[in-house]
Amino acid sequence: VKKFSALLVGAGEMGKNWANNLRDCEQVKTIGWMDIRPDIAAQAIEEKKLTGVAAYDDLAKALAESRPDFVVDVTNPQSHHDVTLAALAAGVPVLGEKPMADSMERARAMVRASEKSGKLYMVSQSRRYHAGAIAFAKLIRDHVAPLGILNSDFYVGAHFTGFRAEMKSVLLLDMAIHTFDSARQFSGRDAVSVYCEEFRPDWSWNRGKDSAVALFEMTGGLRYDYRGSWCAEGLPTSWEAEWRAHGPGASATWDGENPPVAARVKSSSELIHDSEKFSGEIPKHHFGGIAGSLREFLRALETGELPQGECHDNIKSLAMVFAAVESAESGRRIKIHN
Ligand SMILES: NC(=O)c1ccc[n+]([C@@H]2O[C@H](COP(=O)([O-])OP(=O)(O)OC[C@H]3O[C@@H](n4cnc5c(N)ncnc54)[C@H](O)[C@@H]3O)[C@@H](O)[C@H]2O)c1
Repeated sequence: VKKFSALLVGAGEMGKNWANNLRDCEQVKTIGWMDIRPDIAAQAIEEKKLTGVAAYDDLAKALAESRPDFVVDVTNPQSHHDVTLAALAAGVPVLGEKPMADSMERARAMVRASEKSGKLYMVSQSRRYHAGAIAFAKLIRDHVAPLGILNSDFYVGAHFTGFRAEMKSVLLLDMAIHTFDSARQFSGRDAVSVYCEEFRPDWSWNRGKDSAVALFEMTGGLRYDYRGSWCAEGLPTSWEAEWRAHGPGASATWDGENPPVAARVKSSSELIHDSEKFSGEIPKHHFGGIAGSLREFLRALETGELPQGECHDNIKSLAMVFAAVESAESGRRIKIHN
């Protein structure tokens, strides 16, 4: 197997998960870890008991000295643009955390930088690799498509600290990017327009508007209806959200945890037609989450194949987020451009 050297950027909570993920992949050798806060990378290297990993607090120096085969960007969203541009300008491919950027202008600049350098920039949209999500997408493709109706519910009560506690559109920007991206994964469609309301129930402990409903028109006339909240306690949904999809004569549901279920009409004699239920197949021996996105990224480096999350595709999910925010702020339905 071909080995790749990695420079990890960002040593926060998720950066530490990525350090484990890189360590556990036989194709990767982590050679450097960089964080803008002095000593943080060195402390993380010690905490993880890593050997052969150099600590940096300067990205230009880290890139020049370690000369990695790729960079993993696990900084906070506001820094993704600068880290990605610096790596691409040095000719180094980037696997970056979601959301791609904190504005569409900066995301577009990142896509252009990938084109200019001719190097891969892929966003690790980790929920795409969930075994149940893969099974649900296949169930829809094989038995339910073309979809006309798609609904998702995301209700989780989260008591945040750190950058999320300060974020204005914390549900839409930090979390709904996953759910909106899943809607594209499951339907195979892109968004055309959105009407969204963001709100804050009066019991919420969050400062910003942490709840939202959004109605997307997708290509082919599909309507995707999103509902979500970060201050919903007691009966939470899974972090993958709860899903319902309808196509001609068939539908599918997934609770985000158990195998997805579909049903197809078999007889047509009554007012309500009889249908037959069946389950989706959960893939076995499967790398889920960030282990899955890392493998897809490495395969793309080896073969030149276009991975899921490649920036030209992922920006279409980010565009759904910023259009939803714009609709909520303006009270208008917003057309979606990438
Ligand atoms: N895929 C998932 O399920 C998932 C889960 C959690 C977080 N994330 C994403 O991972 C990213 C990091 O999240 P986190 O919870 O670890 O945040 P965090 O705030 O704990 O850590 C971010 C780290 O990046 C460092 N940093 C900031 N700007 C930098 C720069 N320019 N150069 C180098 N280092 C810089 C900070 O000092 C900090 O140590 C976010 O984009 C977040 O949305 C994804």
